[in-house]
Amino acid sequence: MDTAKWFLLLACCCVFVILNINGVEASHKVYPEFQSLDSLRAVEVKQVHRTGFHFQPPSHWINDPNGPMYFGGLYHLFYQYNPKGAVWGNIVWAHSISKDLINWQALEPAIYPSKPFDINGCWSGSATLLPGNKPVILYTGLDPEKREVQNYAVPANLSDPYLLEWVKPDNNPLVVPDITMNSSQFRDPTTAWWSNGHWKMLVGGKRKHRGMAHLYRSKDFVYWVKAQHPLYSAPKTGMWECPDFYPVSLKGKVGLDTSKVGGGVKHVLKVSLDEARYDYYTVGQYFPNQDRFVPDKELVDGWAGLRYDYGNFYASKTFFDPAKTRRILWGWANESDAPANDVKKGWAGVQAIPRTVWLSPDGKQLLQWPVEELETLRGQKVQMKNQNLKGGDHVEVKGIAAAQADVEVVFSFTSLDKAEMFDLKWANLDAQAICGLKGSNVGGGIGPFGLLTLASQNLEEYTPVFFRVFRTQDNNKHKVLLCSDARSSSLQDQLSSSFQDKLYKPSFAGFVDIDLSEKKFSLRSLIDHSVVESFGAGGKTCITSRVYPILAVDDKAHLYVFNNGTEAVTIESLNAWTMNAPKLMNQ
Ligand code: FRU
Repeated sequence: MDTAKWFLLLACCCVFVILNINGVEASHKVYPEFQSLDSLRAVEVKQVHRTGFHFQPPSHWINDPNGPMYFGGLYHLFYQYNPKGAVWGNIVWAHSISKDLINWQALEPAIYPSKPFDINGCWSGSATLLPGNKPVILYTGLDPEKREVQNYAVPANLSDPYLLEWVKPDNNPLVVPDITMNSSQFRDPTTAWWSNGHWKMLVGGKRKHRGMAHLYRSKDFVYWVKAQHPLYSAPKTGMWECPDFYPVSLKGKVGLDTSKVGGGVKHVLKVSLDEARYDYYTVGQYFPNQDRFVPDKELVDGWAGLRYDYGNFYASKTFFDPAKTRRILWGWANESDAPANDVKKGWAGVQAIPRTVWLSPDGKQLLQWPVEELETLRGQKVQMKNQNLKGGDHVEVKGIAAAQADVEVVFSFTSLDKAEMFDLKWANLDAQAICGLKGSNVGGGIGPFGLLTLASQNLEEYTPVFFRVFRTQDNNKHKVLLCSDARSSSLQDQLSSSFQDKLYKPSFAGFVDIDLSEKKFSLRSLIDHSVVESFGAGGKTCITSRVYPILAVDDKAHLYVFNNGTEAVTIESLNAWTMNAPKLMNQ
């Protein structure tokens, strides 16, 4: 190859790497060529990857969940939506309502560009319920100069439980970026909380490479003043999108109103790291007098910190559900597909299943579990009990629709003796990199064992979700890895050499802080055509993979349980259900 060609190849590779650092395109990239394609084209395309029970509109692009709340006996979900195409752009706040978080009804978009203060976009934000049960939405608008400003909108008619119409008062914007800020790095206001005689809200931002949550105070929700210091910031984390800040109870699963401060409470600060495209959180102490948040010492603060989910899960937001006294987490399960494929499909993005979230009894992390209402969709059921799996065994779970299923399994084993050594060389690797080295087919001691989801009959395609136990060099400690490995999930790349069709197939993984004395590991996976959403150890470590099998679709998808470790494991119990599709809200 001559030098010119080498340079061209190198340049192409660089562009590809930049666009695909983690498979998710840089935020707010506009694709003019894809904006106005008629979604009808997509109808001709086989819709094998549309989800059966995850939240997604009939067509087009979606991203962040916005302003979730419970009002008028209904759950309201707003979300970032492109009414004109399957790529990001033309963003409005789409709006849906539900009585149970599962069966939804779509309404007209609630907020869309119409005023100078949001004429270039209505971006993410949150809902706050003011005294007297009066909802207010805070959101980021892009003004004529494309500055990110913070606006508010209120319902036109408070006696309408559907909250169909929203009004943007003329005294908007409430907050504009000041001279110390970069006006294109200032967005996504939180739900406001009340403390010390003020409403307080956070807005995401950054200074140089330091990510931060700017704090604003107001007595009347209209006149907002910036606090001297951010609530919290961290070096080398880049832009903080979609901050979320809320109290969790020290004991039990009960959720708390966002304004709860004081004894018996810790606080969670979650930020969405624009550069890494994942949601990381810290648990800590909030001091309302100084408006300071101090993460607990033993936690890692920064890119290597705790995540809600170690896979495709971004720009999440929680809300307090007074109907069932719980806190619920919504997150966007973004595509791993290339934009050109999204356009062919006619849609992109789904919301992950809403999760109840609470503090683990040891106070060290959050626990998450799909909302209980999801179980109303469970249909045909199969069970297994006390089945032994030697190294190399895999058994099929037959009798359910494996492409649209809910699976709960508990594994046990008798001894930790065979755990493989945790190589010192991996000390600086993250869980995902280790899973990349030690995939489901690389035999181990204790594990890999788990599920092969969305598997084709002869295992040309499968997305394994599995545990693996390592012994650390000091011999008495163990590390448990949970992987959701998309590398073998699809043959698409083999069938199409087109650069444009490239899938992102990472070996997503997280460590699980699990009590090993019982030698019992539980795993739940929600399998939904192009989503595998998994909860390890009762919701300690969660991983969502977006995958696009070609063979393992609809009734050609299979589900297996496997063990590739030398230590035998027992399937103590396995319950699996075909998941029915949700209905419209009132049906
Ligand atoms: C996160 C995000 C937000 C922004 C919105 C725009 O995915 O980039 O920061 O408000 O999406 O759609």
